[in-house]
Amino acid sequence: MELQQTTSGEYTLYIPSMDETYHSRNGAISEAKHVFLQEGMDRTKGNIRILEVGFGTGLNALLTAQHATKSERKVFYHTLEPFQVPFDLIAQIGYGTLQDDESLFNEIHQAEWEQKVAINSHFMLHKTNQKLEYVALENEAYDVIYFDAFAPKKQPELWNETLFTKLFNATKPGGVLSTYSAAGQLKRDLKAAGYSIENPPGANGKREMTVALKPI
Ligand SMILES: C[S@@+](CC[C@H](N)C(=O)[O-])C[C@H]1O[C@@H](n2cnc3c(N)ncnc32)[C@H](O)[C@@H]1O
Repeated sequence: MELQQTTSGEYTLYIPSMDETYHSRNGAISEAKHVFLQEGMDRTKGNIRILEVGFGTGLNALLTAQHATKSERKVFYHTLEPFQVPFDLIAQIGYGTLQDDESLFNEIHQAEWEQKVAINSHFMLHKTNQKLEYVALENEAYDVIYFDAFAPKKQPELWNETLFTKLFNATKPGGVLSTYSAAGQLKRDLKAAGYSIENPPGANGKREMTVALKPI
């Protein structure tokens, strides 16, 4: 794993053996804000429960915590990550400094795994060191799902109807799943799982992304 600069200037992580980055090569922060805040969290109101598939660098968690405070909402944030990023890379990536809240970024990373930790009055964090395939998820527990796995071509085992059915069952009626991909097979699998699909424009000039809605 190594640091790679995006065309927006901030860093993301790059895995040479997969030839895959953790975020858009055209901007990590702009992508996270667009795909997960605007097209995920902002599609709901009030106090919510979010499930993230792939905690990674903690960027989505940081931006969500800041957004929760700013919009005076309370968020319970459950995130799955089987492969923790080494701390020296987290220390170098600089998202806390860029977002003007080094201490929030550090608290998110220092929070105990497998515990529900109140980071502040707006953000409760639960980090789970498990794969989506094996974790037990409570039925109809989440208002929003951030599906932020590596790309379908790089990690096909995470993009299939069986796992989307598992996520559908964990989504509250009226809840949403957002993801940066708009692959044809993804749309078919989400529909087969029971979601209805929207394809708004993606981040950083990408033509489409996917929002999946669970009917009420
Ligand atoms: C595209 S990156 C996520 C970036 C992250 N959301 C962030 O803000 O930095 C994909 C993440 O999914 C994790 N992952 C890989 N296999 C997984 C699995 N089976 N279940 C859940 N997460 C997985 C990876 O380790 C990686 O951290």
